[in-house]
Amino acid sequence: MRVSVSNKTLNSIKTDLLVVPLTKEEFKLKASKKGKKKKSQDGGSTFSALGARLKGALREKLEHIGFKAEAAETSLFTFPGESRWSAILLVGWAGDLESRTFERCAKYRKLGALIVDAAKKHNLKKVALLAGMLELENSEALNALLEGLSLGGYEFTKYKSKVDRKFLGISEFALMSNGKISTRTVSLTTRVCEATMLARDLVNTPPRDCTPRVLVQVARDVAKKGKLEFKLYEKEALRKMGANALLAVAQGSSEPPFLIRMAYAPKKPTKTIAVVGKGVTFDSGGLSIKTGSGMETMKMDMAGAAAVIGVMQVISAIRPEVEVRGYIPTVENMISGAATRPGDVVKALNGKTIEILNTDAEGRLILADALSLAVREKPDVIIDLATLTGACVVALGSDYAGLFTSDDDLAEDLTEAGDLSGERLWRMPLAAEYKELIKSSVADIRNIGGQWGGAITAALFLQEFVAKTPWAHIDLAGPAFSDSDKGHVRKGGVGFGVRTVVRYILGGLEGLQ
Ligand code: BES
Ligand code: ZN
Ligand code: ZN
Repeated sequence: MRVSVSNKTLNSIKTDLLVVPLTKEEFKLKASKKGKKKKSQDGGSTFSALGARLKGALREKLEHIGFKAEAAETSLFTFPGESRWSAILLVGWAGDLESRTFERCAKYRKLGALIVDAAKKHNLKKVALLAGMLELENSEALNALLEGLSLGGYEFTKYKSKVDRKFLGISEFALMSNGKISTRTVSLTTRVCEATMLARDLVNTPPRDCTPRVLVQVARDVAKKGKLEFKLYEKEALRKMGANALLAVAQGSSEPPFLIRMAYAPKKPTKTIAVVGKGVTFDSGGLSIKTGSGMETMKMDMAGAAAVIGVMQVISAIRPEVEVRGYIPTVENMISGAATRPGDVVKALNGKTIEILNTDAEGRLILADALSLAVREKPDVIIDLATLTGACVVALGSDYAGLFTSDDDLAEDLTEAGDLSGERLWRMPLAAEYKELIKSSVADIRNIGGQWGGAITAALFLQEFVAKTPWAHIDLAGPAFSDSDKGHVRKGGVGFGVRTVVRYILGGLEGLQ
């Protein structure tokens, strides 16, 4: 999608779809001031800019169908005889400023998604937006609008033998505005959306085609293109270094396990951030086997890994003054005669022994070794992303990820980054009281807690492997995969985490400005 700023007038612009945001107040104006000329409050840049004749004709039609210009209400009109545009999309717009970050940005992201939805439905490739009443000089708003436009147009059609009409997204997007639009925001947003869609593709790919080996290949390609350090720990190396928790999960599968390390290392980094992503390419539960329906979406159990690959791709393009290391433990959790048994004990990379009582609590096992490796290399902060527990979905539903950290500043920064990105994080307690629940009678710890508080006991388990390093755990089991289309979120893999973590990393710098 090529984004341009155009100060052309309505008479000189040529486009397929002209988008006109319209506030309720502006739409109502005529009713009270019939015939009289009322001074437009928006400098004549929106509905009024359409000119009296077109405006009059449209208003009549809109009133006829009962259009009220409620927020996000849309109506599309085609103009067969018109050469300047094929269609006009009127979108109700709530003009007042939202004070809360999430709501403020969500409004723009939703507008973007509505626009791309209309473009897709009517196969319109060139879009122009009358942006006079929007606040696109604000890079938060611009970023959110472009994210809606780009991510809302995502489709995963690779496995369809027939596609009616493949929508390739909006090709040209013209912002009709006299304001100053940040080109840096436009290019950063484009990159971040590309990476989010890469993560979506990986999550959506069937598990037979997205094996640990394939994740390695994708990570390697990203590293090569982005000139990143790339190191691969294969089975033998993992055995030598003592990554036995990771190996235990993989031992029932015929697919070999890996631990991937990617890094972007500038000469004089201001700080070092490690990002760790759970990469279980399929979670059958192992011998503690899941139900049939419980397995249906378990190709998504590598969504954390996909997000880390996405983050590394963006960071390699932006090349900030921060060192960023990505760690991806990747395995397939399967059953066979060689599978790990409930009751088995393994020694993790940091020397702690784990009693594996439930082979379906495998994410924490592979993360235990990956976190231990990350800690060993002394970063300033560690963030892990994992589709870790069903309990987190029970607690927070499908829109919120659980955020666990004992560092208040980190919690605040990540939550703010999430709100700006439209990815909600909700802080959960790292309740020391529950540490009792993961004590084992035969080993140092066990890999499951009691009946309740499963998201918390999982986080407490991970905490055993981060030593004193400032650390945050994001449980994205809920929002990683969507069961329906919701604006910029499309059914299937969401690519959750890429945008929040990139924003967090850039936060100390100039952000997305
Ligand atoms: N991958 C699952 C968690 C999950 C559930 C992700 C639903 C996405 C949607 C994880 O490995 C798992 O199976 N966790 C168990 C832990 C339990 C055995 C302690 C769970 O949540 O049931
Ligand atoms: Zn599991
Ligand atoms: Zn899992």
